[in-house]
Amino acid sequence: MLSKDLLGISLLEKEDIIEILKLAKAMKKDVVAKKVDDSILKNRILATLFYENSTRTRVSFELAGQHLGAKTVTIVAATSSIQKGESLLDNGYTLDALGADFIVLRHSIAGASHILARATQASVINGGDGANEHPTQALLDALTMQEYFNTFQDLKVTIMGDIKHSRVAKSNIYLLNKMGAKVTIFAPNTLLPRGIEALGVKVAKTKEEALQGANVVMGLRIQLERMEAGLYPSFSEYNKYFGVCVDDLKFADTKAIVLHPGPVNRNVELTSNVIDGEQSQIYNQVTSGIAVRMAVLKLLKAGKN
Ligand code: NCD
Repeated sequence: MLSKDLLGISLLEKEDIIEILKLAKAMKKDVVAKKVDDSILKNRILATLFYENSTRTRVSFELAGQHLGAKTVTIVAATSSIQKGESLLDNGYTLDALGADFIVLRHSIAGASHILARATQASVINGGDGANEHPTQALLDALTMQEYFNTFQDLKVTIMGDIKHSRVAKSNIYLLNKMGAKVTIFAPNTLLPRGIEALGVKVAKTKEEALQGANVVMGLRIQLERMEAGLYPSFSEYNKYFGVCVDDLKFADTKAIVLHPGPVNRNVELTSNVIDGEQSQIYNQVTSGIAVRMAVLKLLKAGKN
């Protein structure tokens, strides 16, 4: 059961994940039908505090809060008193004093949401902390997979791309392992964290091996903002050896779906015809994101009462 905060999938039990996904499935129906109960977070305040760029995650949290009746406020580092040197904790105390019930934090430092959560009355939700975790992204990916496959048991999920700098990869690996899926990863050696096998994943040596029989193919963006130069040769070579094109998808299961958390570098991780192809669920993931965040907000509110 969720209590005050949602900081990482690694801290959740399998039962928590099942509970969130069950509620999110119902919430998604309501969102699509535009029939959401907006009394659930009436008189509550949700603040998004983003020290890194974002489109999907921030807007999706704000819409999730608004759908449930909360008031939402947006603090973006580039236009806030953070530019005047205000610290993360001082921002937290200020948001508490402004009456925030939820703070969604995105920060470039791993563990930032844990520090904020210890200091605030508000529930803190990790909207991505450095290369550590991005729990609601893994939950929305799981909701999307569940729609197609119903169960995670023995589901073969292949994650390809910049694993080393990816909080999305880590949260997905934690979640999928807890749920009984089989995770394979594939990346240039320079973008694979040392000892990743210890997290219970198989590391494929070739693209063909990675994709063979996959039910879910997940591409991840090359995280240029977190990387020193020279970790891969060029975008076009990356695409050839580590990206996914329509021909590569033939190795996967015929009913495989393609996911990507966005933003996508078109023709780098995935070619345009894969992104826009029939197997792609990339925009469905965005819709799942609103539902998952609504479910998390509702459960956190209940956990705190
Ligand atoms: C991801 C993130 O910020 O970690 N994007 C997202 O939340 N949709 C992945 C990325 O930036 O590549």
